[in-house]
Amino acid sequence: MKLVLLGPPGAGKGTQAAMLVEKFGIPQISTGDMLRAAVRDQTPMGIKAKEYMDAGELVPDGVVVGIVCERLQQDDCRDGFILDGFPRTVQQADALRQTLSDKGTLLDSVISLEVNTESLVERLTGRRTCGACGKGYHLKFDPPGSDGRCSVCGGELVHRDDDQEVTIRNRMDVYHQQTAPLEDYYRQEGLLQAIDGMDEIATVQQKIVSVLQAG
Ligand code: AP5
Ligand code: MG
Ligand code: ZN
Repeated sequence: MKLVLLGPPGAGKGTQAAMLVEKFGIPQISTGDMLRAAVRDQTPMGIKAKEYMDAGELVPDGVVVGIVCERLQQDDCRDGFILDGFPRTVQQADALRQTLSDKGTLLDSVISLEVNTESLVERLTGRRTCGACGKGYHLKFDPPGSDGRCSVCGGELVHRDDDQEVTIRNRMDVYHQQTAPLEDYYRQEGLLQAIDGMDEIATVQQKIVSVLQAG
């Protein structure tokens, strides 16, 4: 199963991808997580990417396409993958199509998670992520244990640098200008499946699984 999760910041791509990894045993490829790891490790690419990420702008296509294409060559992607946060521009989508076609394969499905803007802001301002294992939480919608630490590993929870309201609003604008055109792009390819992402986490999960199993 070769899947893309499309949707604005806070739509639930990372949350749903983590659950699909468990269910289908295929890897999640999150360009945001990969870039944050490069920032943390202070690699030359990470140092450059941080400026764009802190401003809520997209990292240049060439950089992101390079890391994804390299990741897709790894063995664990052979039976499928879940792309979370990639592609985000038409150029990235074209590069993905080319990389897959060079390997003699195609995407199976593009799931678009639809959530209204005010809910997105509430989701992102309340989001916390475990600094140790990366598990995501929400103070109201998916709370951690009563000690305020990660319920899986006990790690400390952190608030992402780009989850400040001004940056969130810019990320939304960038999504509408640069990424939303991919909805039509994939609709024309007959791959787009829109899902109402306003329901509870578990309900959204069930809807994604039934769409995938039907297709
Ligand atoms: P990235 O990390 O991909 O951020 P994003 O796209 O803005 O998306 P988020 O991770 O913020 O949201 P999500 O949809 O994963 O939501 P989540 O599941 O966490 O990218 C960050 C930056 O990196 C970009 O701005 C850019 O600079 C750069 N970048 C990354 N990819 C790039 C690319 N391809 N090209 C160029 N630059 C790139 O959920 C959010 C919160 O809501 C959580 O707290 C969760 O618990 C809660 N929640 C989830 N689902 C529900 C629900 N159904 N009901 C209630 N709460 C929910
Ligand atoms: Mg995410
Ligand atoms: Zn943890």
